[in-house]
Amino acid sequence: MAVEVLPLPLPPSANVEMFSGADFGREIKGVDLGALAPEVFREIEELLYKHSVLLFRDVDLSPEQQYALAKAFDPTSDSFGHGNKKIESTKSSILHATLRGIPRVPQVYLVGNGTSYDHEGFPEVQLQHPSHTSWHRTHISPEDQEKGATRFVRWHMDAALYDLLPPKVTTLYGIKVPKGPRQVVRYDDGTGDELEVPLAATAFVSGRMMFDIQPRELKSLAVRSRVKYAPHPYVWISTAKAKSTGMGVETEGLEVPYDKLPAWEESKILVLPLVWKNPVTGELHLQVHPWTVAELFVDPLPRDAVRENAWYPDGAHVTDLKEVRDVLYRMQRPGIAPELVYPHDWREKDLMLFHNRGMIHSVTGTLRPDQIRLYHQCNLAASDSPDGPDADDVRKWA
Ligand SMILES: [Fe+2]
Repeated sequence: MAVEVLPLPLPPSANVEMFSGADFGREIKGVDLGALAPEVFREIEELLYKHSVLLFRDVDLSPEQQYALAKAFDPTSDSFGHGNKKIESTKSSILHATLRGIPRVPQVYLVGNGTSYDHEGFPEVQLQHPSHTSWHRTHISPEDQEKGATRFVRWHMDAALYDLLPPKVTTLYGIKVPKGPRQVVRYDDGTGDELEVPLAATAFVSGRMMFDIQPRELKSLAVRSRVKYAPHPYVWISTAKAKSTGMGVETEGLEVPYDKLPAWEESKILVLPLVWKNPVTGELHLQVHPWTVAELFVDPLPRDAVRENAWYPDGAHVTDLKEVRDVLYRMQRPGIAPELVYPHDWREKDLMLFHNRGMIHSVTGTLRPDQIRLYHQCNLAASDSPDGPDADDVRKWA
């Protein structure tokens, strides 16, 4: 079988020029994902890093095969991206309600909605589709939800962001896809922005596009910055409330104080570049989990750089949480403009393979308990750190 590479079907809302500029997304045909020959895997790997998201349709894949597929991208890793069994044991984490490991292959998790029976070792399993009402500061009224208004729940990459390094890829496999009318994502941030999406679409945005659209002075800041994530970040923010766009958390002093978190060690805290270099294309991707960042480190401008309009020209260690979040929001909110979002219209047996170090994504949709959704998700904590910008990138953009 020859690998066939087709365009990803974009919705009418998409800015086609921007998507093709970032070379975003492809549909792949002609491969058996459960039994990839090494040379075919290498082709898929290169396509993934080039295009950020690959869609495969009509896929049959056991949990063992899905695990093997994720592992092929990082052969020495073997722990689920959040640590095997770690989410079950940290009940206060905001992820606790939404993820359940398959007993036979604990690195593969169930996500979804409603009750499914006799599935992969579970006689009965109840899943709950994440809803903005659990975490956002403001909510869409029940009447408007009834009429199909919804939100981006939480923009994120799949990563524990404490002790474990961010997975390189995520595989998301749709087994049962809920049917129902399309819904409208409301941004509710005063811009009037809205995006029509298929029911329970997964929304993806490119980190490369997000970097490309930054004004010059924010590109300079981005290539000079590193972010420090909080210890046990999902417990830390479990008591805080999110912005209506799902792009981070409001700063109201509601986070769990560090001395009230489960035991943590400074050495396990992650400090990562704000911009990550694509291992195949060398392009820069703005890549930050906006909910879980606590501090920002900024290097000073290089000596010969233009200082006019520069942010933190002499460098900075920003510890004021509101200031940190305001800077990140200023960079990340433009990247989720309706025309830059790819909301995937799921069919049963779709497998989405995405470059988890080059893009962020969010669940959308408001589901009733009888709208059954059942997906298998697998990503593995990585064996290495993402690369930041190199000296040439800093010279070019700082
Ligand atoms: Fe995710």
